[in-house]
Amino acid sequence: MKILVIGSGGREHALVWKLAQSSHVAQMWCAPGNAGIAQERLAKNGAAVECVNIAAEELPKLLAFAQEKRADLTVVGPDNPLALGIVDLFQQHGLKIWGVNQKAAQFESSKFFSQSFMEKYGIPTARAFTVTSDEFPHWENSRRADQREFNLFLLANNKCVVKADGLALGKGVLICNGRSEIYSAMLEMFSGRKFGDAGKKVVLQEYLEGVEVSLHALCDGTTAKIFPTAQDHKRAFDGDLGLNTGGMGTYSPTPFLTDVQLAEIAKKILEPFMRGCTEEGIDYRGILYPGVMLTKDGPKVLEFNARFGDPETQVYLTRLENDLVELLDASVDGTLDKMELKWSPLASVCVVMASGGYPGNYAKGKIISGLDVANALPQTKVFHAGTARAGDQIVTNGGRVLGVTALGKDLKTAQAAAYAAVEYIQFEGVHYRRDIAAKAFAASGNPT
Ligand code: AMP
Ligand code: GLY
Repeated sequence: MKILVIGSGGREHALVWKLAQSSHVAQMWCAPGNAGIAQERLAKNGAAVECVNIAAEELPKLLAFAQEKRADLTVVGPDNPLALGIVDLFQQHGLKIWGVNQKAAQFESSKFFSQSFMEKYGIPTARAFTVTSDEFPHWENSRRADQREFNLFLLANNKCVVKADGLALGKGVLICNGRSEIYSAMLEMFSGRKFGDAGKKVVLQEYLEGVEVSLHALCDGTTAKIFPTAQDHKRAFDGDLGLNTGGMGTYSPTPFLTDVQLAEIAKKILEPFMRGCTEEGIDYRGILYPGVMLTKDGPKVLEFNARFGDPETQVYLTRLENDLVELLDASVDGTLDKMELKWSPLASVCVVMASGGYPGNYAKGKIISGLDVANALPQTKVFHAGTARAGDQIVTNGGRVLGVTALGKDLKTAQAAAYAAVEYIQFEGVHYRRDIAAKAFAASGNPT
């Protein structure tokens, strides 16, 4: 089989690495890929994975490439090409592609769409109130029934989460204290200065407290297969301080849910989700990644993503024992009911090494040392996110640079192994969190 993977981050390196282990794959390309992806080799024949200089949003070029090379399967990593309709485009041309179609991508590309869907189909979520740019000048005096509801939940803790409707590179979410902050956040979103078209509607969500976990389910239009839990660390600094980032590290499994609790939650979310999709005519084939807050009143979905999480993918795929090509094929073909997901009992921890200054401004082109030594450690894999090749060196080329991932018999062992590998890697200005997975130990009092 010939496979094309689209994207260039740590998620895509993990996808390429796992797909390359499949005995079905004889040739693989990644557009545009990164320096780590270019070092991967296929298990079947030792062939190198070839990086192709086409950006993930250049749909016509990607289509032409897949047609020319006769790719048997294209695998899409990031949200942007999905929201732009890459799956629909490839399908119209008779090409097999894994990922959600444009209609299904709305779960991620529109917070308003997701919120309305969750309310309509009884999926547990935060209470919310939507304001359009037309309503904004008199937003506090609307006669809608949900205005009363909003006033009530705002009263509870004087906090509220303001979300721009569209894709905003993970930055369209602001946690506000009190009405004047809410007003300023909305003003900024509507005036377009901050989030462009993403701000024509805003969703004001009740602020929820609890433990946040990432869920993933692989879907085939009818069946949804839940993954084990993972937890991301979104803030830049230890102790969940600093700005929100794309994710500074993950681990799996988490101690917050037993298998039975996870199955109950999956039922509460996935059953109404799949039923709603059928009723709305949405053919959901791909990954559904709900961000879930475990509150004292039960689990509540904060948002839906329609693709693999980054860096959740790094911990999931190091634990996955199935052949990923077979799983993705089944997701496209609608035959997931015949598959059983198999997970290693080992725990996995991924520590993201970022450029100094990320998620704000940062420098690029810093030489990275120690990669080979770190990669040669047992049970360890260094996934590249923002890297490039410069002569015979590998240099930084993005905010999140590497995802140093290690397996261990329990979380403590995996955490120690990941940080041991991190110690070998250097580049100027490097920044990483030192407390990835620490919450697991604080919560359980039991370091497993
Ligand atoms: P989102 O892009 O909607 O997942 O939001 C980004 C982050 O903001 C989430 O991962 C949470 O940490 C936080 N967040 C979002 N919605 C809420 C909420 N309703 N209550 C508390 N925190 C939230
Ligand atoms: N881990 C956060 C995300 O992928 O959105």
